[in-house]
Amino acid sequence: MLMSSVIAHRGARQQAAENTLRAMTLAAEQGARWVELDVMLTADGIPVVFHDRYLDQLTNGYGELASYRFEQLQRLRVHAPIGSDDQAQPIPTLAEALQRLHALGLGLNLEIKPSTRSLWRETLQASLAVIQQSAPLPLVLSSFRHKAIAEALQLAPGIPRALLWERLPHDWKQTALKLEVRAIHLAEFALRRWQVAEIRASGFEVYVYTVNSIKRGKQLKSWGVNGVFTDHPAAFLSQPEWTTR
Ligand code: G3P
Ligand code: MG
Repeated sequence: MLMSSVIAHRGARQQAAENTLRAMTLAAEQGARWVELDVMLTADGIPVVFHDRYLDQLTNGYGELASYRFEQLQRLRVHAPIGSDDQAQPIPTLAEALQRLHALGLGLNLEIKPSTRSLWRETLQASLAVIQQSAPLPLVLSSFRHKAIAEALQLAPGIPRALLWERLPHDWKQTALKLEVRAIHLAEFALRRWQVAEIRASGFEVYVYTVNSIKRGKQLKSWGVNGVFTDHPAAFLSQPEWTTR
């Protein structure tokens, strides 16, 4: 399999500030073997691990992340999840994240998440530059911005790729073959059983986001999905059907 069957979504984000070094460490402590993280660029072109275009909801800052230089971002903190007594955490650079994941022995599904639609090339290229300078680790690149995946095929064909869709389009297979991806990553809410069967029968793997219900996970597993992205890896890893890595 390309990745493990339980992937810690943005780290163990139900217990720690998402997409931070702390969330990665906690995911490893919970027994996860892979994490999914989002990467975008600061105003001065540094790839950082963060999900939202705007800082307002996740941090004590405000406005667009892309308008901040890294030095300014460093002063901000990502909130711990509501109800957790964990501390707010700094936004890590991609370089720091790769170093931590390597030390923890985790694999990474890096989602290329350009903070604006036009920044896909810069985000991919800056991320690849950091990846090439970092200690190697199991890695899969994915994106909703398929141009970034096409560029990854040209620039770093050796890194496995996956396509992200919220809803599977009719011509999915054509795109998957053209971009030579190994897996399709799909939203849980729109997924149908026949789609999983069709993708698997075509030789691709299927990973589903974001699955936090054990019951729903069980159903998806019975449909043949290879893995799930979950905010609470410990809950899934305590179930017999998810202990295989
Ligand atoms: O990569 C899977 C998942 O993270 C995609 O959605 O919005 O959580 O980045 P989002
Ligand atoms: Mg993501």
